[in-house]
Formats: sequence, structure tokens, C-alpha cells
Amino acid sequence: MLPTIEWNDSGVVMIDQRKLPASEIYVTCRTAKEVAKAITTMVIRGAPAIGVAAAMGIALGMRRSTATGTKQFTTEFQRTCDLMAATRPTAVNLFWAIERMKTTFAAAAQGGASVDELKQRLEADARAIHDEDVQSCRTMGAHGAALVPDESRILTHCNAGALATAGYGTALGVIRAAVEQGKKIAVLADETRPFLQGARLTAWELVKDGIDTTVITDNMTASMMRLGHVDLVVVGADRIAANGDVANKIGTYGVAVLAKEHGLPFYVAAPISTIDLNTPDGTRIPIEERNDREVTHVGSSRLTPEGARIRNPAFDVTPAKYVTAIVTERGIARPPYEISLAQLVRGREA
Ligand code: MRU
Repeated sequence: MLPTIEWNDSGVVMIDQRKLPASEIYVTCRTAKEVAKAITTMVIRGAPAIGVAAAMGIALGMRRSTATGTKQFTTEFQRTCDLMAATRPTAVNLFWAIERMKTTFAAAAQGGASVDELKQRLEADARAIHDEDVQSCRTMGAHGAALVPDESRILTHCNAGALATAGYGTALGVIRAAVEQGKKIAVLADETRPFLQGARLTAWELVKDGIDTTVITDNMTASMMRLGHVDLVVVGADRIAANGDVANKIGTYGVAVLAKEHGLPFYVAAPISTIDLNTPDGTRIPIEERNDREVTHVGSSRLTPEGARIRNPAFDVTPAKYVTAIVTERGIARPPYEISLAQLVRGREA
């Protein structure tokens, strides 16, 4: 499996996703600040992977703390959590992971843990968040594969693969599980402007796994569907509101509308940690606006004239009415999502 992120004696090690597929370079973050910078600058990206990185960044920062008393240690812990929370606003997995680390910290502190014990608990929980994410992806994949008929041509957008998680992937986990069941699957990977997660990352992962992969530019999707080259769509998510509205990589909304027009199922695969019952609908999801340079340049080459204004919202919201089903590790939610998602989050099968 692809090593997206790992904790070792030197620090938190990540494959640099900005450099793929040209080079496979690993970056070692030795401080919490370095982990936060790696998240902001997209060394690591993808909702679940960001959550794992934040948890490891907090544990790493606290491991390096020189505080001798729990009071000072607690102040530093809060500051480190705030540092992680300021990295990227849309993927709720980031905030889910920070909350979980806070809960672990509070439980240990209330039980009278020493500074060393607190450090150990945080490290153990960060590792657990990593391992649980891989397990969730595998279980989600098995649930989702049941929705995929043999001989399917699946369109996906952005990268919701091993690189976007601790391993295996969400949307690509569904595809991997279908392939492992012996189904004949061909994938159409949307290029995904401006950061090209589809062309660079999804295609890299799938080709490495020997899965039939064709890259198309984003503006080819409509025509591919009209010509009958797509059977279903599977994408990931950065945040799913209580009513089933889905925030995902910019361009996902267009794909969903096109899928509906062409009578194709539009599936979303995401772990329970991506479902945000505190956000009632998609209008309340904060959408990250990223650096102009992602739009104005490819590498060092400038595409746009100086003086043109630029917009770069990194995500869009697909209204729940376009979503056929949401695949999670606890089962598959179908409309009405207000009910089915709440049941899954509270632990009952939908
Ligand atoms: O800006 P990114 O690359 O972090 O955006 C990633 C996506 O939108 C993914 O589709 C989403 O996080 C799901 S990842 C399993």
C-alpha cells in the first residue's frame, strides 16, 4: 500500500504530493509548525489524510515540548491545536481529529496523567487515528463495491484515494474493492483543475495498482457521459452536512448535475468523520479560497495575463438531491439524508 503518512523516530513523514507523479520524494516534519505548513501548502491533502496529519502534528509538537508541569503543557497543547485548526477550513476531518485529540488529552489529564504520560497517550491516539482510517476505508470499500456492477466504467473527480487518506482511499477504495472482487472496472479520472489531483495523483495511484485508467480534462465529462462512456460516478467528500449536501473539490457539483441529466448514479464515499451533523446544510460550509497562483500558473509557466482578476474557490457544494447514496464504513445512507446520516453517525445501520 502507498505510504501517505507515517510516524517514526525522526518525526512525521509524508510523500510530497506536490511533486507527484514526476518524483516520489518524502518530507520529514520535525515540528508541529512544519506539519501545519505541509497541510497548508498541500504536501499532504485530502480530507481524511489532513485529519491524520493534524493528529500526528499535535502529538509530535507535544512530544517535543520541554514543559515540566501539566499547566504549561496544557497551554502549549491548546496552542498547537489552534495552529492545526488554522491550516485549511473546509475538510471537517481536520476539526474532528483535533477534537478527538482534545478528548484524549482531557481524559488523561483528569485521570492525573503526568506530562510524559500525556505525551504517550497523544502519540498512541494519533497512531490509532491513522490505523482506524485505513480500516474505515477498507470497510467502506466493501460496502461500496456492492453498488458497482461488473464491467463498470467509473468516473471520479479529484483524488479520493490512498493519498487522500491514511491508505486505500474512499472513492478509490470502492474501486479497489470492486477490482479485488474480480469485477472488470475502467476508470475515467477527471484532470481536476487547478491543482490537477485527478491527472497527477488519481492516475498515478491507479496505474501503480494496474487498474485501467483514462485521464480526461474536466470539460470532457459532459461529452463522455452523453456518448455513453460512463456508467456511474464515485467521488469523495470534505464535509457532508446533516441534510446530505456534499462539499468536495471544485467541479464536483458540475459532475453531479451532469450525472443526473444522463441518468447515472452519483455516489459519495466518505468516513463517518466527514459527516458534520452540526452543519445543517451546505450553505454553512466554509469554502476555502486558495492562492491565485494555482490558477495563473502551471509549474513556473504563467497562463493568464497580468491584470486579470482570479477566483480560486477550492471546493463546491453538491446539493443532496443530486446524490444517489453516501457510502460510509458503517453502511450506505440513502435519501432522506436527514434521517439516514443521523442514524449512521449514532451507530445504527441505515
Ligand atoms: O484540496 P484537496 O486536494 O485537499 O481536496 C481533496 C478533495 O476534495 C477530495 O475529494 C476529498 O478530500 C475526499 S478525500 C478522500
